[in-house]
Amino acid sequence: MAKMVLVSLASASTSSRVAAAIVVVLGLVLSLVVVCNGGKTSSFVRKVEKSEVMPLDSDVFKVPPGYNAPQQVHITQGDQLGKAVIVSWVTVDEPGSNTVVYWSAKGIKEMAVGEVTTYKFYNYTSGYIHHTIISNLNFDTKYHYVVGIDHTKRQFWFITPPEVGPDVPYTFGLIGDLGQTYDSNATLTHYELNPQKGQAVLFVGDLSYADLHPNHDNVRWDTWGRFTERSVAYQPWIWTAGNHDIDFAPEIGEIEPFKPYTHRYPVPHNASGSTSPLWYSIKRASAYIIVLSSYSAYGKYTPQNRWIEEELPKVNRSETPWLIVLMHSPFYNSYTKHYMEGETMRVMYEPSFVKYKVDVVFTGHVHAYERSHRISNVAYNIVNGNCIPVKDQSAPVYITIGDGGNSEGLATNMTEPRPAYSSFREASFGHATFGIKNQTHAYYGWHRNQDGYPVTADSMWFLNRYYNPDDESTSAQHY
Ligand SMILES: *[C@@H]1O[C@H](CO)[C@@H](O)[C@H](O)[C@H]1NC(C)=O
Ligand SMILES: *[C@@H]1O[C@H](CO)[C@@H](O)[C@H](O)[C@H]1NC(C)=O
Ligand SMILES: *[C@@H]1O[C@H](CO)[C@@H](O)[C@H](O)[C@H]1NC(C)=O
Ligand SMILES: *[C@@H]1O[C@H](CO)[C@@H](O)[C@H](O)[C@H]1NC(C)=O
Ligand SMILES: *[C@@H]1O[C@H](CO)[C@@H](O)[C@H](O)[C@H]1NC(C)=O
Ligand SMILES: *[C@@H]1O[C@H](CO)[C@@H](O)[C@H](O)[C@H]1NC(C)=O
Ligand SMILES: [Fe+2]
Repeated sequence: MAKMVLVSLASASTSSRVAAAIVVVLGLVLSLVVVCNGGKTSSFVRKVEKSEVMPLDSDVFKVPPGYNAPQQVHITQGDQLGKAVIVSWVTVDEPGSNTVVYWSAKGIKEMAVGEVTTYKFYNYTSGYIHHTIISNLNFDTKYHYVVGIDHTKRQFWFITPPEVGPDVPYTFGLIGDLGQTYDSNATLTHYELNPQKGQAVLFVGDLSYADLHPNHDNVRWDTWGRFTERSVAYQPWIWTAGNHDIDFAPEIGEIEPFKPYTHRYPVPHNASGSTSPLWYSIKRASAYIIVLSSYSAYGKYTPQNRWIEEELPKVNRSETPWLIVLMHSPFYNSYTKHYMEGETMRVMYEPSFVKYKVDVVFTGHVHAYERSHRISNVAYNIVNGNCIPVKDQSAPVYITIGDGGNSEGLATNMTEPRPAYSSFREASFGHATFGIKNQTHAYYGWHRNQDGYPVTADSMWFLNRYYNPDDESTSAQHY
């Protein structure tokens, strides 16, 4: 069954997708939904061939028509509260205009002017990369915006988040390690058609995988920008840097880490007192989101460490009850791929995550799915030997969602036996949503690409750690 569904997805025709959904729903009715307190390795079986990169002439990479037409349009939050948006786009023929024209239904047309930049990478020269911040927007308002001039204007829209506050519902999408294969396209489509309707994406790193192409062919950063535009031009994606975004290639003279990533994907790090775009925080609705860098120094006295030590005490749970951390490399990962890579950072930061009652930590890196129980492993002090994770209701749930569908394929090999801290793990491509309902409840669901759009292959009601730190694991369901 799984195989048939995959084949029909790849063909991407509507009728076969409907057929696939019917098959999956049938399969669901037949399979038992497990209400889980213990843990599980999913027995869901799927094909494990390498996911194929979409060729350059694919529909998703099409260049918009017209001289110097803006392409790769993307937006992200532009300040700490959600009243500003950074609009970015690329023009290829000439620098063109840095102006964004925007308006809401009630308002007049306004203009914001930004900056243009370019960079070189080995023998690649980027197009003209524009970044314009629109500020002083109203909360919870739909804005239309236009980039480009004359005959090549392109119009998009976005909705600003509601005002930051304790009881504000908001739904985040979660995508990681996306890349640009047919599976990546299936993941993005599933996210777009998920009836839970994510309003902003928390992206946990590894964007384009351009670095897997000869000389890190940065043309693949451009194709990725065009591929994802259909979502990220309309809702902000909150960026986290992954290892495939480092683009460190001394063999071809490229020694500035994160050069393409930071030129293309600006973030509002300055607003949270960060000195680097690789770590920062934002508030959005009732959530406080902290983004960390697994690939920047994090030890004692380093810039990132100094920032996070000052940052965590600032989080006011009366204002933003939900505390979410994003980074690329997981602290808890029971797949053999990337096993223990996050361990040194865990030793540094886990005690603070527990102390400040982080609700959930989302990571990518491992190309599979895994959700932990609430556990911590902070008792160890070299001499006492207490080095096994224990149940801890002040600890975050750790979720690995590195299953966007890039060309490296799925991580299928798992450590055995399944460690007790791992609540559910499965090697399938997909995405998740984190739907905050109010101060105390959030509904989390993982959606695998083989299923119908509304199906959650793993789900749980999160209880806020600050207001309601009870054990909520009995609400977890998966199959
Ligand atoms: C860059 O160099 C590679 C070989 O080293 C070549 O195949 C490619 O066409 C070059 N690209 C450009 C834009 O010159
Ligand atoms: C990608 O997905 C979209 C939406 O489902 C579809 O229209 C498009 O044809 C797909 N492209 C490729 C190359 O699979
Ligand atoms: C960055 O933030 C600092 C204060 O945190 C401020 O003084 C400075 O002007 C900001 N710079 C920019 C470019 O916004
Ligand atoms: C925390 O947020 C609440 C609600 O916005 C506010 O009343 C309170 O003053 C804040 N506390 C601090 C220490 O800023
Ligand atoms: C799979 O994992 C086991 C450890 O559980 C390891 O010994 C083995 O080498 C791994 N196989 C592959 C193909 O990575
Ligand atoms: C918060 O949302 C949950 C789930 O929808 C609901 O059961 C609960 O009653 C809500 N709490 C309040 C105070 O409204
Ligand atoms: Fe990675």
